Parts: sequence; structure tokens; C-alpha cells
Amino acid sequence: MCGIVGYIGKKQAYPILIKGLKRLEYRGYDSAGVALISDNKQLNVYKTKGKVADLEAFATHKDISGTVGIAHTRWATHGEPCSLNAHPHFSSSERLALIHNGIIENYATLKEKLQAKGYVFKSSTDTEVLVQLIEYIQNSNHIDLLTAVQLALQEVIGAYAIAVLDRDNPDEIVAARKSSPLVVGIGTNEFFLASDATPIVEYTDQVVYLEDEEIALIRRDKPLRIVNLNNVECSHEVKTVALNLGQLEKGGYPHFMLKEIFEQPDCICDCMRGRINVNENHVILFSVIDHKERLLRAKRFIIVACGTSWHAGLIGKQLIESFCRIPVEVEYASEFRYRNPVIDENDVVIAISQSGETADTLAAVELAKSRGAFIFGICNVIGSSIPRITDTGAYIHVGPEIGVASTKAFTGQVTVLVMLALTLAKERGTLSEAEYLSMVRELSAIPSKMKEVLQLNDRIAQLSKIFTYAHNFIYLGRGYSYPVALEGALKLKEISYIHAEGYPAAEMKHGPIALIDAEMPVVVIATRNGLYEKVLSNIQEIKARKGRVIALVTRGDTVISRIADTCIELPETPECLEPLITTVPLQMLAYHIAVCKGMDVDQPRNLAKSVTVE
Ligand code: F6R
Repeated sequence: MCGIVGYIGKKQAYPILIKGLKRLEYRGYDSAGVALISDNKQLNVYKTKGKVADLEAFATHKDISGTVGIAHTRWATHGEPCSLNAHPHFSSSERLALIHNGIIENYATLKEKLQAKGYVFKSSTDTEVLVQLIEYIQNSNHIDLLTAVQLALQEVIGAYAIAVLDRDNPDEIVAARKSSPLVVGIGTNEFFLASDATPIVEYTDQVVYLEDEEIALIRRDKPLRIVNLNNVECSHEVKTVALNLGQLEKGGYPHFMLKEIFEQPDCICDCMRGRINVNENHVILFSVIDHKERLLRAKRFIIVACGTSWHAGLIGKQLIESFCRIPVEVEYASEFRYRNPVIDENDVVIAISQSGETADTLAAVELAKSRGAFIFGICNVIGSSIPRITDTGAYIHVGPEIGVASTKAFTGQVTVLVMLALTLAKERGTLSEAEYLSMVRELSAIPSKMKEVLQLNDRIAQLSKIFTYAHNFIYLGRGYSYPVALEGALKLKEISYIHAEGYPAAEMKHGPIALIDAEMPVVVIATRNGLYEKVLSNIQEIKARKGRVIALVTRGDTVISRIADTCIELPETPECLEPLITTVPLQMLAYHIAVCKGMDVDQPRNLAKSVTVE
């Protein structure tokens, strides 16, 4: 979490930095700050609690001149969100200013060492320790900033993406990364620096993704230089990024989340483009074909992910097991990485991550790799850390997801998992020709069915008004709908702050049924599939206890409409593809309830889009 931006060139840096911070605000938004070396050679630092707009207000009428600067938007890890803890942090002499994304794990030891030498700290952050350490090393050894940064980082345990400005050298920014992302943009007579490419694409499409323990020397009128912590030059590949600026704007929608919900039919088409051919009746995920032998000899698959991506993984398990007859385990990446899992070269690990930067998922991948497992990544952000360390993978191609609550990434992940399962099933011969062909046809029909579901938006907006009173919600589903129930509950709690729980519907009677009373809204995914009758019984149990049932049903259902308080009718689709349809109204329900309650839908409290710390 935390967003980093930097600029050096001929233009005024401040507007570029502020615009960049706004693009990165999804990464954290509890405080923000900027450091600029002004036209009269002052190192000015402005920072404040709150969002980037608060920083702009704070910097009004201050000296914001300068053609070099760094800026930061924070998601607090060490120290509460307040101006003192906001970045950039000054060194003692106020000659250096530093911004940081990550966690310095041994900061307490380093801090004690510096305090013993007389250093005084103004903030409670780990970051201030780093900038003081760099200055201390530089002063004691009379060395240049780059060497001081190299020596300091050799003492650091933890994760970092940093950028350092030196008041006495307005022609240089020193930036480094380890386990936190950092991208350098190469323009004409100018350089940009950012946590991802979104602040950069407006100015240049030429970027370099820094690797772990690399340091970039970004200098005015000189070529980019990249070295490692031991000062060995590192070769770097300049990549071309293809991001469309329109994808980074709200495009007339009140929130990114609503825009992203509505983009889903197009996103799923983009995700399937070149991979599914209805006329020729086939689906091909090329990365599966390219690594066919390795995937086919796997004894089992293990899916690692967090949050919404983990919910997609639960659906992936059912798809792969039922289409391909390969056992699949689904693990929270954060648990997997710390419990010495049994894993070896016979296993295939599928890592699912929208951002491709989630620290726990990245660590789980590294662990699995070290044990010889083959790693398949399913990510959205191109060039992010996870796709760069996996053996192969498939991007979901849904475009930048900016709303903090994940929507289109989830449906994109499920779509890739369906294509992966179908491609493998074809190779393994575990689906009949008729089943396979029917799946290809049904999958290609999903975008148009999603469009039909989106037409329910006004009705769901009206319905949402009734439920703003609720303090609790229960979501129920079975089979493929159980992960959808979990996802619906997660969406509601993260943006409306209403407590919500998802359960497998049949588990109700083992405890949660005690919660049901006339106040309790219960969302039930009750589409007409193999478990329909069972779910119907579960609805009866809830109604017998006066719960308020909102049922997602298959269009034309006349049975549940007589029992449930509200029915949302959805187009019919095969059970295994239903999550792509049933998730959409739950996203809309969460969105509209949060809007009715006046919540900050795109930037809910305490959250950040990309969780690059453990
Ligand atoms: C929920 C949400 C989070 C993420 C989780 C994993 O709406 O966005 O639960 O799904 O933090 O993030 P990625 O997919 O980037 O690894």
C-alpha cells in the first residue's frame, strides 16, 4: 500500500505529482505529502492528514515551484494517520527527504542505534528511521547519496519502495525497491517514478520495472542508471505500456465502482478475446497449452489468493475438480506461507491476484517456487510482481480497477478459471464433446446475459433504500453459489460498514440460524440448479423464523417468489457459470446500500486497493 510518485525534468513538478497521487490514491488515502526542490534551491516538504485534495488545500499559497519532486499517499502501518507521520520524512539536517512504501521490520533496532548517537525522531514511523540512517551513513563516511542508500538498505530487513531527494543535488532522485513495486517512466528530457504505471502513461509509454534490490539513479539530462546494492550495474529492459487514459477516469459515472460494475460485459469480452472461438467451438488458454506436460502431470493444484481473489479461487476449485478431475486445494496465501505446507515438484500452484502485488500472495508463490512447484499466475496488472515471478499464467485483461472494492477483477478471474479448466479438460479428455461444446457456447453468451442483469440497476437502487437500517446481513448459497455468498457479504461490509456473513446455506442450521429474526435481511442465491430444492428448504427455514429474504432466482421462478420478500430474477445459465451472473446484482446491492448511507464507496475507511504489506 501507499503510493509513490516522482518527477525530474523541465516542467513544474507539483501538478504532475498531485495528478499522479490522485491516480494512486486507491493504494492508500489517510495522509499525503510532497517534497520539492524549489527554484531557489529550498527543499520544501508539505504534508497533511487526509486525502490528496487536503494536501492541495494545505499547499495553497505555499512555494510549490521546482522541477524535481517526490510525493506520497499513505496507508498507515507504523503510526496513526496524522501530519507528523505522513511522508515525505526529513532527515535531521532537513537536507534529505524520503518517501516509502513497505515496512522496515527491524526499524526498532535501527532506531535505538541512531537514538544512541543523538538522533531525535519526530514521527512514529519506520520510514523516518530509514532517512535518518541514510544521512547518518552519509555523514560518517563522507560518501555520495547513492552509496549511502546502498549501505543503509543492506542493513534493512523488510519491504521497501523508496525515493530520496537531496536538497544539495536538485538534479537527481535515488529510488530503490524490494518487495514493493516501483516503475520508472522515461520521457523526453524527463523521468517519472511511480508505484504503478497509471501516473506515468499520460506522459510516456516507455517504462522500466525495477527488480528487487535494484536502485535507480534518475538524473536530469543523463540516462537512467540502475545498480544493485553492491553497486553492480544492472541491465534493464524498457517496456511499452498500453494503458488508455479513459480507463483511468470515471467516464460520467458517480463512482469508479459503478463504472467498473457496468464495464463487466466488455471486460469479459476482452478477457475471452483470442481465447475463445465459438464458430470453431473451442477455448484455448495458450499458457496452458504451452505448459501442457507440466500441468497434466500435476498430482494436485493448490490455489493461493486473498480476499475477493480467494473467493474466485473457491469457484476455480469446483471448476477444475468437476471438469478435469484433478484435486484442488484453496488456501489463504497469508496462512499458506507460514504453515510449512506439504508441497513439491508434483504440485501446480495457481496464484490469483488482481494487483499482482499482494504481499502474502507473492510470498506464498516464492515459497511454493522454492519447493519446486510449478506456478501459474492469474493477474490483472500487467508487469506487476506476481506475473514476473510465476512460470506462466494468464492475464484477466479487465483494465485498471480503481474502486477499492473489487468487481470486474472477480468476474475476470472466474472467466479465466473457466477457460483454464476447459482447456485442461479438453487435454485430459475428462469432459464429453457435448459438455465441452455447450460450455464454450454458454461462456461466450455470458457478456450479453450480464448486460441483462445490469438493467436491474434502478430496481436494486430502489430496493437498497429499504435496507439501510440493517446492522447485519446474511448471505447464503450452495455449491458454486457459496463463494458468491462470501463475495456478496465482503462487498457489503467493506463499503457500507454493515456487518455481513456468507455461509453455505445448509450450514445455517448448525448455528447461524440463531441470528434470524424479523430484522435480519438474508440474501439467498436460489437459482434453479441441482441444489434448488435444498435451497428452497433453507428459505423456508428462514421464513419460519421471520427473516427477510432477498432471493436471487432464475427468471420465471414462481415458487420462491411466493415465499421470499423480494426476488431478483436473473437469466438462466449453467450452474458452473452462474457466479458470473449472480455476483453482479450483489455488487449493485452493496454499492447502492453504501451510497444510500453516504459512504465513500471508492475509498472505504481503513482499506487500500493493493495490500503490499503483510
Ligand atoms: C475486496 C478486495 C480485496 C482483494 C484482496 C486481494 O473487494 O478488493 O479483498 O481482493 O486484497 O487483492 P489482489 O487480488 O490484488 O491480490
